[in-house]
Amino acid sequence: MKLAVPKERRAFEARCAASPDTVKRLKALGLEIVVETGAGSGAATPDQAYVDAGATIAPDAASCLAEADIVLKVQRPLTADEGNDELGLIKRGAVLVSTMDPYRNKAQVQEYATRGITAMAMELMPRITRAQSMDVLSSQANLAGYKAVIDAAEVFGRAFPMMMTAAGTIAPARVMIFGVGVAGLQAIATARRLGAVVSATDVRPATKEQVESLGGTFVAVMNEEFQQAQTAGGYAKEMSDAYKQKQAALIAETIRKQDIAICTALIPGRAAPTLITEDMVKSMKPGSVIVDLAVENGGNCPLSEPGKVVIKHGVVIVGYINVPSRVAVDATAQYARNLFNFLGVILDKKTGALTIDAADDIIKGVMLTRDGAVVHPAFTTA
Ligand code: NAI
Repeated sequence: MKLAVPKERRAFEARCAASPDTVKRLKALGLEIVVETGAGSGAATPDQAYVDAGATIAPDAASCLAEADIVLKVQRPLTADEGNDELGLIKRGAVLVSTMDPYRNKAQVQEYATRGITAMAMELMPRITRAQSMDVLSSQANLAGYKAVIDAAEVFGRAFPMMMTAAGTIAPARVMIFGVGVAGLQAIATARRLGAVVSATDVRPATKEQVESLGGTFVAVMNEEFQQAQTAGGYAKEMSDAYKQKQAALIAETIRKQDIAICTALIPGRAAPTLITEDMVKSMKPGSVIVDLAVENGGNCPLSEPGKVVIKHGVVIVGYINVPSRVAVDATAQYARNLFNFLGVILDKKTGALTIDAADDIIKGVMLTRDGAVVHPAFTTA
């Protein structure tokens, strides 16, 4: 059985869906692995490292994907409409394992079905204990949270830690984290390691203790709605307008005193909530920094611009796209490992044959299409 790892072609993407480590492990399952030349170059991995791990190198996407039974990608394939028909190179009946951003690309979900591709959208991995090692959102968000703080430090004209020197005392930076999911928690930990005074806000009550255990101060309106603000799946709910107003007033009061804001707040399948308004930006000190990790989902700050670092009202607003890709080596290693662990669910460990059990909770969570039809309940009525 052939498994293909084509080079990623979308803008701002440096990661690869396989690492030499996972190629070696997949090879041990008896698969034939074909990696497109240059697929690892963005993650500092030359072709030879994949060859040494047991892969063969294909000179282009067409030969890499030809007759592949399993295709591993970081981002969904480009289509003819986008000017480069990667999707058309994948054979009928192949299993495509990738992130697919399906809520924003519903037409493509239908296209996977029409083309007879079995599409597994890794960002829909259920948040159950058994699937933790396959959770690409977590592995990538963790690195994004780290890098967001480093990106803030780079454009911040001051130091993070308190320093008492003969030339005077430098006050510690005050960093506030918006959204305490996986990225936010790592941002708190990273900012603390650099010596900042950290506070954080979230709408899920469980985060209060998590923030405090990392040495941060929790900031939120803690009323009854706040106590109910978490879905069974552990994600945030959309809050009422009344709650949003109260929360905004509290944030407005707090943000004036901050040097750096790291925004990570997301609601799955919806636009990111606006948390830092233009008036709040105006209230910040000149030279303050906002890093908006939510920029690709509309942003937590309306002034952030995708792919750009801009200065508005004296505040530096960082809107880098695909932040995990900015830590491409580690992000690749972890993403590849997530995919390898997932393949353990759909491959027979002895024979290496595909065994997709539609009744398995993991498969129910991630499988969008099968046998020419859309099968995922969130997309069947799209
Ligand atoms: P996410 O990326 O969807 O959102 C980031 C954070 O933004 C969340 O904490 C969310 O509550 C917060 N947020 C949303 N709206 C907000 C608002 N208006 N104001 C302030 N904050 C707002 O979340 P992520 O990182 O994917 O994590 C979601 C949850 O899942 C967390 O509890 C995490 O610990 C949990 N989790 C569980 C796993 C498991 O296997 N059991 C694995 C990974 C995460």
